[in-house]
Amino acid sequence: MANRTPLMAGNWKMNLDHIEAIATVQKLAWTLTDAKHDFEDAEAVVLVPFTDLRSVQTLVDGDKLGVKYGAQDVSKHKSGAYTGEISVSMLAKLGVAYCAVGHSERREYHGETDALVNDKVRALAAEGITAIVCVGEPLEIRKAGNHVPFTVDSLKGSLANLSPAELAHVVVAYEPVWAIGTGEVATPEDAQEVIGAIREALAKMYGPEVAATTRVLYGGSVKSSNVAEIMAKPDIDGALVGGASLDPQEFAKIVRFKDHIV
Ligand code: 13P
Repeated sequence: MANRTPLMAGNWKMNLDHIEAIATVQKLAWTLTDAKHDFEDAEAVVLVPFTDLRSVQTLVDGDKLGVKYGAQDVSKHKSGAYTGEISVSMLAKLGVAYCAVGHSERREYHGETDALVNDKVRALAAEGITAIVCVGEPLEIRKAGNHVPFTVDSLKGSLANLSPAELAHVVVAYEPVWAIGTGEVATPEDAQEVIGAIREALAKMYGPEVAATTRVLYGGSVKSSNVAEIMAKPDIDGALVGGASLDPQEFAKIVRFKDHIV
């Protein structure tokens, strides 16, 4: 993990309304602050539905909580006639620190391409919001043994032509589609294979320093029972957690992955 600060990001997807969000973030923050150093050992982030953001902001600011929060998607456009979309500046006004981009569910159900992801990464970086850029292969590609080149290609397209300042606002998340919400976790070795290749690709694209400092997360059926072995791999810097992040006790255990190292 070198000197990279571990990052545990809970992607709530389309779950928990703003009332439920307040209770969930409160429980998470109280659980984590019970023990010392939790927020130094790992960044704890929740990626919530847009309608929850204002409530979560008020809570986190008002109670000075250590939990960070973010969004699950954003428009590439600055403003204008884009019905239903949310702009980067709207997120910035809400104190958003992170935003997921190119999640496989966005790619699958909304036709998002690497080029669009690239535009969104730039738009976010311009306002100081860090993009969590998701890449990962579907089952057919894995079965054919092409998961590394497929994922690296998607990474190259998603992160094409970024400046050093933009790269400073990038986190990568490797999420094999077949492991999302299925209970089917990639083995730590599977995850390390692809994440190691992602780091090598970053070195080729942007040099060894960017490769050494950019955080790369694993996502797909992460739970408190498997997070420690995943985090033990040298290139894995954290997790993007779906289902298990909806339960604040369980997510707190994931943030405290160091407790489970045997
Ligand atoms: P699960 O943890 O529910 O498999 O979801 C992973 C995911 O898609 C996080 O973005």
